[in-house]
Amino acid sequence: MRALGGSLTAAEAEGDERTIEAALRPRTLEEVVGQVRVRDQLGLVLEAARQRGRAPDHVLLSGPPGLGKTTLAMIIAAEMTAPLRLTSGPAITHAGDLAAILSGLNQDDVLFIDEIHRMSRPAEEMLYLAMEDFRVDVIIGKGPGATAIPLEIPPFTLVGATTRAGLLPGPLRDRFGFTGHLEFYDPAELDLIIHRSADLLGVRLTDEGAAEIALRSRGTPRIANRLLRRVRDYAQVRADGVVTLAVAHATLDLYEVDRLGLDRLDRAVIDVLCRRFGGGPVGVSTLAVAVGEERETVEEVAEPFLVRLGFLARTPRGRIATPAAWEHLGLTAPKLPDSDPPLFSS
Ligand SMILES: Nc1ncnc2c1ncn2[C@@H]1O[C@H](COP(=O)(O)OP(=O)(O)O)[C@@H](O)[C@H]1O
Ligand SMILES: [Mg+2]
Repeated sequence: MRALGGSLTAAEAEGDERTIEAALRPRTLEEVVGQVRVRDQLGLVLEAARQRGRAPDHVLLSGPPGLGKTTLAMIIAAEMTAPLRLTSGPAITHAGDLAAILSGLNQDDVLFIDEIHRMSRPAEEMLYLAMEDFRVDVIIGKGPGATAIPLEIPPFTLVGATTRAGLLPGPLRDRFGFTGHLEFYDPAELDLIIHRSADLLGVRLTDEGAAEIALRSRGTPRIANRLLRRVRDYAQVRADGVVTLAVAHATLDLYEVDRLGLDRLDRAVIDVLCRRFGGGPVGVSTLAVAVGEERETVEEVAEPFLVRLGFLARTPRGRIATPAAWEHLGLTAPKLPDSDPPLFSS
């Protein structure tokens, strides 16, 4: 498990949180806040499919954890009034696992494969054929005597979600008719989400309180919703129940979420990069070991946000901290010797 599991700003949902999230999930495209482009594009894909009376094209959703991939997958099924079948890449370790799922599909079902980049190779190859020809080859027997029996499957829509679109093999990526890239949310959008969630949860909060949570939510709705719940606890136990600016500040300081929304892992990454590696460049594996995290977590959770803030750059030679990162830590960026090639170009 992840060392920071359970942390307030972990982007992944854990335990009971899944139940709470289910209650807060938008159920229609209309209800989705932000992601305007993806919403428009997806709306068109779905509407066209409805008019033709056909299952929509396969959809790939990519982006960091907590931005709404699972939510959108559920909405796709709901908007098509089709049953949703859920599975995930890590659960599909053999081609046989996938064959069993595919052969159980009914016409127009939506099959959601979360973390699709973590599926096994043989399953991936089986999936190509299923996506394109709605067929699987079931292999009977072993070795030279093995035979492939083709099995027809009814037309279905595959929705794949991935935090790493770049890790998907080209042939798999190409078989999706539409790819939606989810972006981090801006504070105004998070503000709307927080107000919406507060209404649903019956939390009383002021506009200033909501705005403060929005600013520190790392551009991520899941984190916004989680901070809201912690802030509500604080308001209930140590104040008069209303989430005000002061309550928000006190709670967020308590949980060490800084004014830009950086959490312990984010800060650890830039801290190690600046203090121990002189600002880099350093390889991501080394960086992960130095902060005591899995490489995946550093790459998929911390880095996208740090890159977005302009604190970290990914270069062919490794990760480097930008002057803004040094400044955020209250450090002075070292002067580069004149002979060095510039690390930053404008
Ligand atoms: N666009 C959005 N509008 C409102 N709430 C959202 C939106 N996107 C995500 N959420 C909230 O954030 C939580 C996490 O979203 P989820 O779809 O599970 O993210 P992902 O699958 O990308 O990790 C959901 O419970 C949902 O309430
Ligand atoms: Mg998800």
